[in-house]
Amino acid sequence: MSSNFNFNFVPWFRSVAPYIHKFRHQTFVIGLTGEGIAAGKLHGIAQDLALIQAMGVRIVLVHGFRPQVNEQLAAKGHVARYAHGIRITDSVALDCAQEAAGQLRYEIEAAFSQGLPNTPMAGATVRVISGNFLTARPVGIVDGVDFQHSGLVRKVDVAGIQRTLDMGALVLLSPFGFSPTGEAFNLSMEEVATSVAIELRADKLIFLTEVPGIRMQPDQPGGEDNPIDTELSLAAAQALLARLPGALQPADAGFYLQHCVTACKAGVERSHILPFAVDGSLLLEVYVHDGIGTMVIDEKLEALREASIDDVGGILQLIEPFERDGTLVKRDRTEIERDIATYTVIEHDGVIFGCAALYPYPEARTAEMAALTVSPQSQGTGDGQKLLKRVEQRARSLGLDSIFVLTTRTRHWFLKRGFQSVDPDWLPDARKRKYNWDRRSQVLVKKL
Ligand SMILES: CC(C)(COP(=O)(O)OP(=O)(O)OC[C@H]1O[C@@H](n2cnc3c(N)ncnc32)[C@H](O)[C@@H]1OP(=O)(O)O)[C@@H](O)C(=O)NCCC(=O)NCCS
Repeated sequence: MSSNFNFNFVPWFRSVAPYIHKFRHQTFVIGLTGEGIAAGKLHGIAQDLALIQAMGVRIVLVHGFRPQVNEQLAAKGHVARYAHGIRITDSVALDCAQEAAGQLRYEIEAAFSQGLPNTPMAGATVRVISGNFLTARPVGIVDGVDFQHSGLVRKVDVAGIQRTLDMGALVLLSPFGFSPTGEAFNLSMEEVATSVAIELRADKLIFLTEVPGIRMQPDQPGGEDNPIDTELSLAAAQALLARLPGALQPADAGFYLQHCVTACKAGVERSHILPFAVDGSLLLEVYVHDGIGTMVIDEKLEALREASIDDVGGILQLIEPFERDGTLVKRDRTEIERDIATYTVIEHDGVIFGCAALYPYPEARTAEMAALTVSPQSQGTGDGQKLLKRVEQRARSLGLDSIFVLTTRTRHWFLKRGFQSVDPDWLPDARKRKYNWDRRSQVLVKKL
């Protein structure tokens, strides 16, 4: 066999290893929309879930069934009725929901039972277990609308689900719950997935949806074409929701975002909105650094924000030791004061623990990230990573295609985060003129 056979495979596989280790024994709750199943995506998703489970992740899968119920209703000559984004379930709709749920459970179990040789499911043994893990209560009458058999989650049988996961099974939940009197209620997939993730204290809540994620500044004119925001803090997600009027309509990105916010506020640290249309989107989001959809993350423990003039003293104090040992180029107070609007900082309790600046070169559609620094006592806890992400977001919102850094000692940190070495000749002309050839900094570029 040639020595360069599959030469990319080993480094690629090793790059996934940290994620495999990190997620082993963690619990993910996956909300799969009925639209995804109707679009024929079930088999691919089942393959990916089987693989993720084989890598030690405990999985609860909640399926939706909105289009399937609507189809059954249409076949019976009825129209679907909604209010406040919730189906009004009369007795015909309840029958349709029960039929659709039964049918989908069979289809999902079948998808997890495939195992033909030479397919990704060969050798997979996924035991799917569903059951009456949810207690429901009626939505009742809201603003004069009687929701009849539509319900909300009253209680999740956490111990029952945990025991089933402990057995190594995948737990499958339909959006149905029963009241203590045995009455069935039609629930929404999004509410079930969110409640279950909160009650299980899941590590991730992931919605596989018809939307590609949350776009950057979606409420601005032309915002519907903006790039996907890969990471939103809880605060940013809440601020965005307040500005999005359509958030209560299914099929709207804000509809999923509100559930992510609910989960995040209740302690689920990471919630994701992913497109089912992209083959392998689950794998791309979970095992690739930048992901593909939008992740909502709780950053309340510290403030990552744009700098103001009051931060100049804190920034100077932070970078000074690194200037002294030559890691960073010297910047004086007036320079930082002048450029303060280009800085992003991390602050805990009024103290600046990290900073980075972004100097755009719009004519070359790029920008320099400079003075990336994290204070020695909080290095290694991901602050550098968060600053990088925020700086990337700022560059993207300026419509730039890449960011670059000049470094003498931190090359590997950047290489691990998607930067590539280039010749100093690559630099925009205006920056090349200032390049200090004695310092011999390496230039690294990351495409956005
Ligand atoms: C580079 C720096 C910003 C990273 O910040 P951080 O908050 O520690 O970064 P993160 O927590 O996101 O990442 C930590 C990882 O980076 C690694 N790392 C830290 N410094 C590194 C370096 N110089 N080269 C390679 N890897 C480095 C850590 O070992 C750790 O690895 P692990 O996750 O495998 O344990 C920080 O180390 C720093 O301020 N360094 C001094 C200033 C500097 O060099 N800035 C760059 C100027 S171009």
